Amino acid sequence: MSERVYSGCTAATMAGDTTYGLIEDAAIVTSAGRIVWVGRNRDLPGWCAHIPNIGLGGALVTPALIDCHTHLVFGGDRSKEFAMRLSGATYEEIARAGGGIRSTVGATRSASDDELLAGALRRVDDLLADGVAVIEVKSGYGLTIEDEMRMLRVARRIEQHRKVRIRTTWLAAHALPSEYADRADDYVADVTIEGLKRAHQEGLVDAVDGFCEGIGFTPQQMRRVFEAARELGLPVKLHAEQLSDLKGAVLASEFGALSADHLEYLAREDAHHLARSGTVAVLLPGAYFALRETKLPPVEALREHGVRMAVATDANPGSSPLSSLRLAMGMACTQFRLTPEEALAGATRNAAAALGLEKDYGTIELGKRTELAVWDAPGPDFLSYWLGGDLLRGRIIHGEFHER
Ligand code: NIG
Ligand code: FE
Repeated sequence: MSERVYSGCTAATMAGDTTYGLIEDAAIVTSAGRIVWVGRNRDLPGWCAHIPNIGLGGALVTPALIDCHTHLVFGGDRSKEFAMRLSGATYEEIARAGGGIRSTVGATRSASDDELLAGALRRVDDLLADGVAVIEVKSGYGLTIEDEMRMLRVARRIEQHRKVRIRTTWLAAHALPSEYADRADDYVADVTIEGLKRAHQEGLVDAVDGFCEGIGFTPQQMRRVFEAARELGLPVKLHAEQLSDLKGAVLASEFGALSADHLEYLAREDAHHLARSGTVAVLLPGAYFALRETKLPPVEALREHGVRMAVATDANPGSSPLSSLRLAMGMACTQFRLTPEEALAGATRNAAAALGLEKDYGTIELGKRTELAVWDAPGPDFLSYWLGGDLLRGRIIHGEFHER
């Protein structure tokens, strides 16, 4: 039975001009996995009378959440580095000494596919408990063509084990592996770009990303990667201005990037570039928090220029050991001063845009996919306000209710 009416709920549609696009005593009608009607229950059209009606008992319904920036396929963990950072070492110092991303590369290369998948599924389950239905997963801990492709194949396998949509991003330009020490340009050509072509041929790449930073890759190197992506017709995104201002966001805008991510060191005067190209600013408060960063992203400037802001976990073993998107939303409010409504938009509508999925996901609107989160919460502010807890009643995936 693919038709359903979900009634007896408050819907934060995240569409329209009103706060949260809120509809009290709402009904949502789904057919073949798409929303075919949404509005006040009392306005439910007559043709819905024969459709099975499921009462949600006053629950809050939002679009299913979307985690648009994760690195959740990896081997090992970096809890030792956490302890080192707490006794004074910086993230950059640890990286330059061969730890950081490169230590996860070692653990990832030596893990089997099944081990990588099992680890990833634990983190996926955490996210699903927060009402997530779409997760972006990056490569970047393989750093050989074969290991980068392997990471993305493992990421795609998640869909066979859980009711979730996975988007995979090619992030071979994440760190320089030791076998290419002092030969970053060769690495970009031989692994990042050659591998991208192969991975794309295998249909593994939804977007192309890079780490544009002193301990990552230069804007010139990223430009070459982006040019290769453009030739293949693939959208780009960029880890930009996380630790310093290399003008990565300006480069990303020039290539019409889906998103520029982190942005703590983005200059206020560069925000307009993102607005012009429609590039989403993905804010990652978990990394800000875990690295004890004190430089805030220029949220006011982004807001003034009408740049869409998303919020994601950045789930990874180094800079953001975090697998709760709701906690990321709460941190985005407390640390970055987003409003709770901006935080929810950041984990729904704008997260969908950061993945190029806004036609199908991110709002409760006619024609969109029926992917919803059903909450035991008195209102949508509560989702960012309450840290932790078990607020989710269930997810509606492809129109079907799945209890937690
Ligand atoms: O988004 N900045 C680069 N990449 C990740 C960190 C990855 C890691 O430390 O393992 C990030 O913060
Ligand atoms: Fe990241």
